[in-house]
Amino acid sequence: MSFDMMERVRQGLSRRQFLAGALAGGAALTMTDKLALAKQIATGRTPSAQDIRGVGVQPGIVLMALNENPIGPSNHALQAIAENMFKINRYGFGRGELIPALAAADGVELPAPPQQQPGGDEFFRRRPPTPYLITASSSQVLELIALAYLSKGGGELVEADLGYLDLAQTGEFYNKEMGIPTNVIKVPVTKDYRHDLPAMLKAITPKTTMVVITNPNNPTGTLMSYQELSDFVAKVPKNVLVVIDEAYIHFVREPNYRTAISLATSNENVIVVRTFSKVYAMPAMRLGYGVSSQTIQQKLRFYMTGGPNMLAEVAGVAAIKDLDHVRMSQEVVWSFRDRCYDEFKKLGLEYIPSQSNFMMVNVSKDAMAVVREMRKRGVMVSVRAREKMPTWIRVSSGTEAETEVFLHTLKEVLNSTI
Ligand SMILES: Cc1ncc(COP(=O)(O)O)c(C=O)c1O
Repeated sequence: MSFDMMERVRQGLSRRQFLAGALAGGAALTMTDKLALAKQIATGRTPSAQDIRGVGVQPGIVLMALNENPIGPSNHALQAIAENMFKINRYGFGRGELIPALAAADGVELPAPPQQQPGGDEFFRRRPPTPYLITASSSQVLELIALAYLSKGGGELVEADLGYLDLAQTGEFYNKEMGIPTNVIKVPVTKDYRHDLPAMLKAITPKTTMVVITNPNNPTGTLMSYQELSDFVAKVPKNVLVVIDEAYIHFVREPNYRTAISLATSNENVIVVRTFSKVYAMPAMRLGYGVSSQTIQQKLRFYMTGGPNMLAEVAGVAAIKDLDHVRMSQEVVWSFRDRCYDEFKKLGLEYIPSQSNFMMVNVSKDAMAVVREMRKRGVMVSVRAREKMPTWIRVSSGTEAETEVFLHTLKEVLNSTI
């Protein structure tokens, strides 16, 4: 762990300090403060936990509702943005470090670029196609999938319930609001909240255009193994697209865990979707990608009207390479999970063990009322399965101090008369 990362954790305030008064919060940053902060970041000063949490969050609020990364982005990513911000008058042709950086991180072999002609200009060198489609967020990949595979003549989609259900909702919207005949089949998760892959296989009909798997799943945090996914893909008809959304894959704590990327590079009908919003902590930059065959990629490109901006890309490259920051983000999440398990056990609360940066816990009271009461006390958590699990809340990872505030507030609220 780098020194500046350790410093950030230390600046995350000790438990007692935080509980004693941090909820009172600091003053909102003025424009002058922000410019001063940008300058300090560009010149290498480590921003404090307060600076990082500040943007978009009211002072004094503990935001543990949106599956964000509480430690903020890599300092290298911030520095890359600062260093490149004066170049935004140019379109930025000729950049292109992001795909090689991703491929190196994902263990994907890229086709070799053609030899440069003697005296030729790198600026004009054509790059061969790669499995990567870089987008402005993983939501954009999901949108492109809906457009390419459902919007034309309609289609049929199979997704787990509980699940992220973003594509299912788009399908329902097409059907109800746009008159595009789209059938959404929601397959209940198993008793232990995992994808029921045999049932999902059975749900596939001749009309099915895609099957969607979020792994680890949101909101359950459960994980399917590589072997399970690989066996599943082998049984899915080749004309059905398999979408594997790996938004939270970096938070898996299994030493030998393999991602599904190799399934996407070896099967024409599989796409893996990834985001920079979680482990890399840059949701507001809007950067994501899909890994797939050229067949899938061309279908998606047909609908693509815009992609990420240059600052997002340079920040992305720096973020991928900052392995200390990745490790730090993982450790913050793993500590959050361990600490919550511990406390939930003491409190006798049922929870779903998670491989992600959030978890579901059964508070045995009306979840909406608990969330509202916690919000009044400055802690934001969410309800994600209101109908099926009306007494469960979903809590996203916070720093060590924020996690203590969350647990303290939860106990207070559960002991109150709501
Ligand atoms: C499973 C899953 N996929 C995709 C996204 C969208 O992420 P983004 O659009 O920020 O890349 C989210 C957001 O929380 C998510 O939970």
